[in-house]
Amino acid sequence: MAKNSSNNLNTSNRDATYTLGRTSHETTRLIEQSRIYGESTKRLCKRAGIIDGMRVLEIGSGAGDVALMLAERVGPTGQVVGVDINTEILDTARQRATDAGLQNVEFIAGDARDLGFSDKFDAVVGRFVLMYMANPSEAFAKLIAHLKPGGIAAFQEPEYTLYPAFLHPDTPLMNQLITWILDVFKHSGAHLNMGIGLYQTFVNAGLPPPTMHLESPIGAAKTWAGYRYMATIFQSLLPLLEKYDLATAEQVGVDTLAARIRQEVIASKRPFFLPLHVTAYSTLPV
Ligand SMILES: C[S@@+](CC[C@H](N)C(=O)[O-])C[C@H]1O[C@@H](n2cnc3c(N)ncnc32)[C@H](O)[C@@H]1O
Repeated sequence: MAKNSSNNLNTSNRDATYTLGRTSHETTRLIEQSRIYGESTKRLCKRAGIIDGMRVLEIGSGAGDVALMLAERVGPTGQVVGVDINTEILDTARQRATDAGLQNVEFIAGDARDLGFSDKFDAVVGRFVLMYMANPSEAFAKLIAHLKPGGIAAFQEPEYTLYPAFLHPDTPLMNQLITWILDVFKHSGAHLNMGIGLYQTFVNAGLPPPTMHLESPIGAAKTWAGYRYMATIFQSLLPLLEKYDLATAEQVGVDTLAARIRQEVIASKRPFFLPLHVTAYSTLPV
């Protein structure tokens, strides 16, 4: 296991390079990712107490999956405002909201740390976004400043430092993939321990200790979507893997990767663990 899994969350002067790139492939990957991790995001929002009629700020919307789920959750009397620094991806998010007939969700382009609103929110939610921010605690403090007293903070972030300890099945291909994932996220400046780091992030901002869960989708069925999902991660990571001289396209072999993972997992008769993530929620004192 990586030794720094319990260490403090480091901060830096610079945001991470968005490790997975800003291509149309990445937009599709985010939608696919949401099919795998979406259930736990729904559980998080339910456990956190986000209900009908609430006004919710959603950070790092990407292709809009979390905002769309929240818009259904808060219903027509509620409202969701999604924010993303990537202007282009919000076109997809807006189109998906229109296609779904949701009129209670809007998307704003900008840095989530720089926004001003005239009205406060009942909840602030983010998935896989604080890990890219130079100083997550500072960013989080700015985000929860938009909450009403008693407002809810609910976040979901990956925990890569623990991933090697859960490596399963322990086969050469899996070892190689996890090494590449850890190396490329580390080089990009992302926080590898953002999942566990949510605890400090919440308490440093003055919130009560959050309720937290560690989750990982796991599977070994022949038709499981996890193999393809892992290959799509590598398609997005490939430009940085090459840029940082960590791996070549030939070594990664994206086109055959899903089939090779599937073959190894099925032969091992053991389930494959996808990247782990942590959910955390807490509420501001009234
Ligand atoms: C891994 S994606 C996750 C997207 C979405 N939350 C989901 O789970 O499907 C992270 C998103 O956060 C956005 N992001 C990163 N830093 C941001 C910031 N400072 N302000 C707003 N959005 C940011 C990125 O542009 C990207 O779309």
